[in-house]
Amino acid sequence: MAVRISDVQSQCQIIANHLSAYQYLDDPESDVVNAELEQLSNLYDGRVIVVNTDLKIVKDTYSISQGKTMISEEVIRCFRKETTARYDEVNHFIEITTPISMPGSEDIDGVMLTSISANTIMDTKEKLGIRAFLIIAITSTLIIVMAYFGSLLIVRPFRKVVQEMDDIKEGFEKDSVYVPDFIETEALSLSVTQMISRMETLNASRQEFVANVSHELKTPITSIKVLADSLVSQGEDVPAELYREFMEDIVQEIDRETGIINDLLTLVKMDKGSTDELQVTSVDIGSFVETILERLTPIAQEAQVELVLEIIHPVSAEIDETKFTLAISNLVENGIKYNNEGGWVKAKIDGDYQFCTIEISDTGIGIPEEALPHIFERFYRVDKSHSREIGGTGLGLAITRSVVLMHRGAIKAESTEGEGTTFTVKIPRTYLP
Ligand SMILES: Nc1ncnc2c1ncn2[C@@H]1O[C@H](COP(=O)(O)OP(=O)(O)OP(=O)(O)O)[C@@H](O)[C@H]1O
Ligand SMILES: [Mg+2]
Repeated sequence: MAVRISDVQSQCQIIANHLSAYQYLDDPESDVVNAELEQLSNLYDGRVIVVNTDLKIVKDTYSISQGKTMISEEVIRCFRKETTARYDEVNHFIEITTPISMPGSEDIDGVMLTSISANTIMDTKEKLGIRAFLIIAITSTLIIVMAYFGSLLIVRPFRKVVQEMDDIKEGFEKDSVYVPDFIETEALSLSVTQMISRMETLNASRQEFVANVSHELKTPITSIKVLADSLVSQGEDVPAELYREFMEDIVQEIDRETGIINDLLTLVKMDKGSTDELQVTSVDIGSFVETILERLTPIAQEAQVELVLEIIHPVSAEIDETKFTLAISNLVENGIKYNNEGGWVKAKIDGDYQFCTIEISDTGIGIPEEALPHIFERFYRVDKSHSREIGGTGLGLAITRSVVLMHRGAIKAESTEGEGTTFTVKIPRTYLP
């Protein structure tokens, strides 16, 4: 619209100059100028009206208003040197006023009022609007369709992963997921597979644990049953001595059962209680271990094993006394249990500014190399028959290791079969929650 207006305005200006040059206002009969005016109105499907200073219409290309007086706001404003260009939005036409004056003169001798139709512009606009709408509609549809199929393409491998995971969930014979379509799905399937194998390991160890527990708990009960049965079957005439002996055995088995249950409870408590339940106090490790050795002296004497304490550096550390007593007692007890007559168990204490080391070594039977990696497992015993006669469930070292780990420490075992075993416990002197 603006382009059209400025186009017509400049043409009008040229013709206005001609009007003034031909003194058309005085003599509107000039063929040249009339032809120009005619051409302009034809070209733009419009009407040109020329008005003189008396507001008289000198020329109307429609030849209807010639000689009449023209009182229009635009014309009057143009005489006041305000040229206007107005678009009538209702009737779709543009009205332009152009002043007619002699070159170099300020005076306005007349006004040329040009109205041209804006229909062609409106038509073009409408056509363009339809086209734009079509283009937008087609591209949006295309984009939506492409997005739909694109997303299907992207989602498909992930669907596959879900499908495979579902298969595993449903219990099909499959324990790995592998969808290498995308790097992401490959990583995802790898993680899932690792998780599954971890769960399988956990499940296996849980099953083994349950089997072990049941077995261990059943053993004393079976013994008690056998003992009680034989007493019952002998009826009234059981010698008092035999009766007493059997009863003592029964009590022993009951004690054994209680011991196992207590150990299990300790382990379970430590498993779920994690570390925040540690009641740590700063303790002098030398006297702490000495107390334990003193308490175990009767057992050691019975087994004819000597207990020795060696303090390289006196050291204190923050420990949970009750739990740590359990850990160290287990080690010393083992040293006594799996020893030979006349042997010894030595507790060696050392430390630096950061760590405290407690070493429990013995001159006992030792642990075979292939058994060494397993001794901290629950219920693991090297020689079941031997251990049975000595008495033990294989929970001691598992408890010890749990306690040491709770103290953020480490435990290791070294052994030579037939010569002896050394357990080394190392914990930080300051407890790290
Ligand atoms: N100092 C040691 N010398 C030789 N063998 C040992 C020693 N300490 C542990 N073992 C072996 O490791 C096994 C596991 O020890 P652990 O203390 O866990 O169980 P346990 O002593 O059999 O039973 P308990 O639960 O009563 O302690 C023992 O059965 C024994 O075979
Ligand atoms: Mg033990």
